[in-house]
Amino acid sequence: MNIGLLGCGNVGHGVLEILDADKKHDVKVTKILVRHERNNGDGRFTLVPSDVTGNPDIDLVTEFIGGVESAAEFVKASMQHGKHAVTANKKMLAECMPEMFRTAHENGVELFFEASVGGGIPWISNIRNIREIDEISSFRGIINGTTNYILSSMEKGMDFAPVLAEAQTLGYAEPDPTDDIDGFDTRYKTVISCEEAFDTYIRPEEIPVFGIRHISKSDMDYASENGMTVKLLSRVVKNGDSIAASVMPCMIAKDNELAAVKANSNAIELTSSNLGKLLFIGQGAGTYPTSHAVVQDILAIQNGKKHDYSRLTRGTVENAGASGVYYIRTAAPEVFSEIESERAGNGAVITVKTDLEKVMGLIDRANDPELFIAEVV
Ligand SMILES: NC(=O)c1ccc[n+]([C@@H]2O[C@H](COP(=O)([O-])OP(=O)(O)OC[C@H]3O[C@@H](n4cnc5c(N)ncnc54)[C@H](OP(=O)(O)O)[C@@H]3O)[C@@H](O)[C@H]2O)c1
Repeated sequence: MNIGLLGCGNVGHGVLEILDADKKHDVKVTKILVRHERNNGDGRFTLVPSDVTGNPDIDLVTEFIGGVESAAEFVKASMQHGKHAVTANKKMLAECMPEMFRTAHENGVELFFEASVGGGIPWISNIRNIREIDEISSFRGIINGTTNYILSSMEKGMDFAPVLAEAQTLGYAEPDPTDDIDGFDTRYKTVISCEEAFDTYIRPEEIPVFGIRHISKSDMDYASENGMTVKLLSRVVKNGDSIAASVMPCMIAKDNELAAVKANSNAIELTSSNLGKLLFIGQGAGTYPTSHAVVQDILAIQNGKKHDYSRLTRGTVENAGASGVYYIRTAAPEVFSEIESERAGNGAVITVKTDLEKVMGLIDRANDPELFIAEVV
């Protein structure tokens, strides 16, 4: 099987290394698209997208260029030329899933994306296996390594800004960390997981999201003094035909399994009828864990694994009925006075059990750009 690589950065070069070293499978990288010329004597590199996307000798393309427009254009063109595709790009997939699935279905090709959620954790393939005989009712997890690294460091007493700077130096956080710290990356992965678990496509912006940009040392200290820590969680529950979903910092007990997930690790907990709870923990990013997941997808497609892209239906998030106890620190506490609450000691309050939708409405009204909220779970 001839493979074309779209991109050869952190993930792409790992995939290239693994496949070039592989002697066990009939899989060979024959063309590699990059943006900047490489003078490394490797004749496989090209700057011309159609050398990969329209190349009749290529059977499968892998995409790791990131972003939405070019990535979507190249993956779609490749599938229209009858090539299978594997992508690690959660943002592109979450934004363009219906179009990508339709293209795969119409052209009779596969589009696999194990690496797009949880990096090296075999999350997507396990959902597929479980769903062969079982029904998934919920999942929740830590699916962004950057924010988990920041929160783990804050647990040890550091403040947000220096930890973010350190994460950027170590390459865990992007120069523009918005997608990570504002929860958008977690939300893209939540969208993809909903497709896998329920055959339902939810637009990313329909999932309420709160990130960790405004968490302060005092918030983490409050959690710690009360036997808890803070984690950014994706949480999804299927109620009949409707799906409740959110991405939000949560204060969880220190003896909770998810509290033990440190640094840039990921953990995802799934509940299904027969299995009950199942917890996946591992490296959610990084060159080799992510590349491993990509190569697993390539081999799965080579071995004839298929996904039914026609099952995808459009869904909406229904959070009516979702409620919780919330820790809220805001410069506009008067806006929240209609919710019964007690002071948390550092200018924050802890509410009684309150509807999520009501809290969200008040957050909009407070219009406080520095507000921090965490659900106490
Ligand atoms: N890094 C991780 O640990 C990780 C984990 C899971 C998923 N992902 C996802 O994998 C994707 C790639 O991430 P990465 O960290 O490998 O990115 P990266 O290091 O920035 O590499 C991007 C590669 O794509 C090429 N490229 C970018 N835009 C292009 C264009 N318009 N035309 C042609 N080539 C283009 C770049 O070429 P040049 O080399 O010439 O600049 C580079 O080789 C992203 O969607 C990311 O979210 C990454």
